[in-house]
Amino acid sequence: MDPGDEVIIPEPFYANYNGFAVTSGAIVKPIISKIDNGFALPPIEEFEKAITPKTKAIMICNPNNPTGYLYSKEELETLAEIVKKHDLFLFSDEVYREFAYDNNQVYSVMHLKGIEQNVVLLDSVSKRYSACGARIGMFVTKNKEVYSTAMKLAQARLSPPTFGQIFSEAAIDTPKEYFDAVLKEYVARRNVVVESINKMPGCFCPNPKGAFYAVARLPIDNSDRFCQWLLEDFNYNMETVMLAPATGFYSAKGKGVDEVRISYCLNVNDLKAAMKCLEEALKVYPGRK
Ligand SMILES: Cc1ncc(COP(=O)(O)O)c(C=O)c1O
Repeated sequence: MDPGDEVIIPEPFYANYNGFAVTSGAIVKPIISKIDNGFALPPIEEFEKAITPKTKAIMICNPNNPTGYLYSKEELETLAEIVKKHDLFLFSDEVYREFAYDNNQVYSVMHLKGIEQNVVLLDSVSKRYSACGARIGMFVTKNKEVYSTAMKLAQARLSPPTFGQIFSEAAIDTPKEYFDAVLKEYVARRNVVVESINKMPGCFCPNPKGAFYAVARLPIDNSDRFCQWLLEDFNYNMETVMLAPATGFYSAKGKGVDEVRISYCLNVNDLKAAMKCLEEALKVYPGRK
């Protein structure tokens, strides 16, 4: 991508994309996905409207951080059509691709027909093997030019850490039973979060089908203020709960002010306690709406 090139990303999105875009001089053009339909892919007309001669790529994260949304095969095929029509790249961050629930499967962009030269898949070992910090990632492309350009950059950056490489090679042999158990556990954790929040008055949380995050709408004036208040001014039996204000996952100003992202990486009992804490907090929060 050249400075000034545009990349369209449905938002809310993983906040680091903004940082990476800034360092490469690319401009992020957000398209809003909405909590009321569970953060499904925005209508294709929205993409058409956003595309300019400067647009070089569409980027998605599937399953999604922060929303947990899992794009369907049909949604991805719709994206493929527009990618083909305007000859764009399609970057797909699939680092959570093992984490798909309720008998759903992640449909990788690598399976899309007719745009083989346009697709770049991004992946990492860090979610799959709970190895954040291993700093081993990869991208997959059939496009030789993209590949050789990335190789130049990779060689200039030298190698990822030795320990991470040794770990990642060994991790490939992780048996399927490990993932079966992990998925079962995450479904139980997700259910605690989603069911608890949807029982709280004025709250709404779509049921995410992947990753280990959910974005919930709460009856609050300002999610940054609420999250700060939880940490500084509130406790329930000497405990509190830490949430991420969803504002940080939107680049559009004013979006996500009544939404928070919840990561359900805790065990079920701790999550139940956290949900109780949130329920009590919402009863006394001075900025409740
Ligand atoms: C969507 C998404 N992509 C990429 C990453 C980065 O993964 P890594 O640990 O390999 O840097 C993360 C980590 O949180 C993520 O959520």
